[in-house]
Amino acid sequence: MTADPRQRITDLRNELNRHNHNYYVLNAPEISDRDFDMLMKELEALEAEYPDMDDPLSPTHRVGSDISSSFEQEPHIYPMLSLANTYSINEADEWFGRVRAGLGGEDFAITGEMKFDGTSISLIYEHGRLVRAVTRGDGERGDVVTENIKTIKSIPLQLQGDGWPEFFEIRGEVLMPWEAFERLNKEREFNEEPLFANPRNAAAGTLKMLNSREVSRRSLDAYFYYLLGPELPFDNHYDNMTAARSWGFKVSEIMTLMHSLEEVDNFINHWDKARRELPVATDGLVFKVNSLRQQLNLGFTAKSPRWAIAYKFAAERAVTRLKFVSFEVGRMGIVTPVANLEPVLLSGTVVKRASLHNEDIISALGIHDHDLLYVEKGGEIIPKITGVDENGREPGAEPIRFVSHCPACGTPLVRVEGEAAWQCPNKFGCAPQIAGRVEHFVGRKMMNIDGIGEETARQLLNTGLVSNIADLYDLQPSQLLRLDGFGPRSAERVMEGLEASRSVPYDRVIYALSIPFVGDTVAKKVAKAFPDIDMLMSASAEQLAAVNDIGPKIAEGVVEYFANEMNRSIVERLKAAGLQMSMTVENSEPHSDCLAGKSIVISGTFSHHSRDEYKDLIERNGGKNVGSISKKTDFVLAGENMGPSKREKAASLGIPLLSEDEFLAMIEPA
Ligand code: IVH
Repeated sequence: MTADPRQRITDLRNELNRHNHNYYVLNAPEISDRDFDMLMKELEALEAEYPDMDDPLSPTHRVGSDISSSFEQEPHIYPMLSLANTYSINEADEWFGRVRAGLGGEDFAITGEMKFDGTSISLIYEHGRLVRAVTRGDGERGDVVTENIKTIKSIPLQLQGDGWPEFFEIRGEVLMPWEAFERLNKEREFNEEPLFANPRNAAAGTLKMLNSREVSRRSLDAYFYYLLGPELPFDNHYDNMTAARSWGFKVSEIMTLMHSLEEVDNFINHWDKARRELPVATDGLVFKVNSLRQQLNLGFTAKSPRWAIAYKFAAERAVTRLKFVSFEVGRMGIVTPVANLEPVLLSGTVVKRASLHNEDIISALGIHDHDLLYVEKGGEIIPKITGVDENGREPGAEPIRFVSHCPACGTPLVRVEGEAAWQCPNKFGCAPQIAGRVEHFVGRKMMNIDGIGEETARQLLNTGLVSNIADLYDLQPSQLLRLDGFGPRSAERVMEGLEASRSVPYDRVIYALSIPFVGDTVAKKVAKAFPDIDMLMSASAEQLAAVNDIGPKIAEGVVEYFANEMNRSIVERLKAAGLQMSMTVENSEPHSDCLAGKSIVISGTFSHHSRDEYKDLIERNGGKNVGSISKKTDFVLAGENMGPSKREKAASLGIPLLSEDEFLAMIEPA
C-alpha cells in the first residue's frame, strides 16, 4: 500500500472502478461486499481530508445527491434516429434482400442483437471520461441527465484498457431489470402510488427524476449498442462494440455475427422464445450491416438507417375460455365488467381475470357466453382481452349483455354522460360503494388510519357499525373487540389511528372525501383556492372553474357532491369530530416575503424539518431554492454533515452558512 494519500486516492478509485465493473458488468465479483464497502469508506475518508482532490467522477459520487435540478438541454452531435420495424420473418427477409441489392452483390455480414426495451441514452466520452449523458428527447436535442446516469454502476465513468478514441459517443438503452421493476412496483403498491405499467416506463420515469439519490436506489442498468465518432478503432460495428466491452461498457454477449439469411432466421426463431429467460425486458431484435463502409453506402431514409432493421416480437398471446363476466362496483359507483377466465399461463404468470373496461369494448369484441378468448400481455403487465376465436363458440351461445341493474343493490344503472361507463346512482345504499369510500378514506395518502384494511372495512359495514365515513369517528373500542380477529391491541391501534387522523391537513381531508374527479393534485388546488370547507361547500361551478387547472367537469363534480344533503351532513359530522377543515397557518401560502429575491442552497441533514419541508418553507417565504453554490447564492442553509467541498466553496465565495435554528428564527421572528 502506498504511503502517499493522494496516490492512494487515485489507486482506490481505480480499484473500486474495477470492482464495480466486475460486479455490475461481468457479474463476477472478486471481493466480498464487505471488503468493497471498506475500500469505499477509506476513499470517502481520504476525499474528505483532501477536498482539492475532489472529482465528480469518483466512485464515491455514484450514490446521487438530493439536489434538485431541472434538466438542461443539449443538441445531439449526430441526430438520434429510430429503426424501421418489421413484424415477421418474411419482412426481415425482405430487408435482407434490399441490403443485398443495395450493396450490388458484394459480400456482407450482419449482426443480430437484442432490442432492449428501455429508454435510449447517448453518452459522450472525452479523454476516457464520461462528460455528458443526454436522453433522446426529440431526436435533435435531449435532456442532460449526467448526474442520474452516474448512479448506474455498470456505466464506466472512467474507461478501462486502452485504444479508446479521445472523443466518442456511445448509445445504449437504460433499463430497469425485471427484478428491480417488480420490487419497485411492490413498494409503490404498499405506498398506494400508481404502478408502472412496464419496465420501460419505469426506466424512463426514473431517469427523469430530479433526486438522483432516489434514482440510485432504483437499480437501473444499461446495455450499449452503437458507437459513433470521427475516429473509431475498427471499420465494423462488431469489433467496435467488442472494443467498447473491453473499455468497461456492458455490451450484450448475445450480439452475433452472421453471414446468411438462414442464420438471421435461426436467430429470430431462437430468441423469439429464449428472450423470456433474460433478466431484462426486450421487445424485439435488431439486425445491422456490420461494415461501416457498407453502412455509409446504404445510408439513411429521412427517419431511419437503411443498414439496420428492428424485428418486433409478437405480443405473447394465450387462448382461454371465458367462465363468466362479473360486474364490479367501485367507490364512485362505476360498474366495470371483468372477464373471469379458465386460468392460463401467460409470460410467466397465471391469468384468471382481465378487465373488459366498459360496454362498448364488450360489443366491439363481440364476446358471447363461454367464448374462447385471446389474452395478450404486450409491453404492458396487465393482461388484455384482444379478440375472440369464433370457431370455439358454443352452439346457441348468447352475446354478453351489460347488466341493466346494479349487481350489488339492484338499482337501475345510469349511463355516465358522454362516456361509455354505467353507474349505480345509489351512493348511500350500495355496499361496495360505501366500502370503497371507507377504504379510500382510511388509505395511507388520505387519512392514513392504521388498523383498518379492506377486510375490516367490510366487517364494519356488514355488522352495521359503519355506514359512512363519519361513523368511523363514533366507533368505541368495545365495538371493535366484537369484530373477527380483533383484540385489545388492534382495537387500540384503530383508536389511535382515528385520533391521529384529526391532524391530517385539510387538502388530504378533501381528497379523502371521494368527491368525483378530485384526486390528490386537484384536492391541493381546491384547498388552496378555498381555504375553508364552508367556502368550498358554497362555491359555485363558475367560481371553481375559475381556478387554474380545474375544468368544468371537476367543478360540476364538486358542486354536485356538496349539493347532496347526505354529503353535507357527513362533512358536518367530520368537522364536529375535529378533522382539519381549513388551511392551518402552517400550510397556507405564502407565509411572508421575508426571503424575497434570495437564492438559497440547502446542504446536509436536518433535525427539525425534512429537506423537502425546508424547500417548501423557502418558497413560501418568497425565496428560491437553488442546487449549487455560486456567486449569486445569498446563503447556505447548512445542516449536519455538509460536504467538505461545498463548505470550502461557500468559504471561498464568502457566502454565509446559516444553521437550522438561525434559519427558522429568520422566517418566524419571535
Ligand atoms: S441501434 C440508428 N440497437 O430501439 C440506429 N437500437 O427503435 C440506432 N434499441 O432508439 C439504434 N436495442 O432506443 C439499436 N440493439 C439495439 C437496440 C436499439 C434497443 C432501441 C433504441 C432505438 C430504438 C429504435
